[in-house]
Amino acid sequence: MFSLAGSDMAGRILGCGDGPASFNAEATKRGTQVISCDPIYAFSKEDIEARIAATYEQVIDQTRQNQNEFVWEVITSVEELGKARMATMQAFLDDYPAGLVEERYLNSELPTLPFPDASFDLALCSHLLFLYSQQLDEGFHHSSLLELCRVAKEVRVFPLLAFGGAMSPHLEGSIEMLRSAGHQVTIQRVSYEFQRGACEMLKIQRTDGYHQDSADGCNGD
Ligand SMILES: C[S@@+](CC[C@H](N)C(=O)[O-])C[C@H]1O[C@@H](n2cnc3c(N)ncnc32)[C@H](O)[C@@H]1O
Repeated sequence: MFSLAGSDMAGRILGCGDGPASFNAEATKRGTQVISCDPIYAFSKEDIEARIAATYEQVIDQTRQNQNEFVWEVITSVEELGKARMATMQAFLDDYPAGLVEERYLNSELPTLPFPDASFDLALCSHLLFLYSQQLDEGFHHSSLLELCRVAKEVRVFPLLAFGGAMSPHLEGSIEMLRSAGHQVTIQRVSYEFQRGACEMLKIQRTDGYHQDSADGCNGD
């Protein structure tokens, strides 16, 4: 989703809206410093586990009904997707108690994050901004993107499509706003594509001296 290079993983990373994903668990095992923020971290492991179990069938059913909106190449069926998602969430659940103690999982949410300026080298945000364009208005997108740029030297957001497959109506205005604020903004193709057509990320770099140019991790195709 983010064309992460080895050099990206060497820095301090913020995962914003990470939910029950396994990125923090897996990256921590590899020695990367990651903090994940999400309002679901107000809940206990047991509460989150129960919620995953309660919503599993519904999520899989919805995917089955909208099968043509996805690319079934790496994951070849809805059943395989279900198993992969459950394995991912189990890796999160196994790591969650230790991660709470180590303050790697923080109950906090956009548009206000509890970190000093430039606390992170890279902030990642997947399947929240732009995807939930109907639920989260343009003002929320602008405040959230500026907040991510405040706490991190570089920000990457994936995907740029809303549910249903159309480009987010907030994308163009957000890019304009970020450029007016002095940030360098590019749209980059990534190798991951599961939601059909969702194969681009927004990359925002601070141009106020915090960001130092480094080799680009994007595959560039
Ligand atoms: C669809 S999930 C994406 C999880 C993960 N990033 C991924 O790509 O698999 C969206 C997540 O955003 C979280 N979320 C919702 N509102 C948020 C906010 N204002 N700030 C941060 N996270 C939020 C939800 O709790 C949920 O875990």
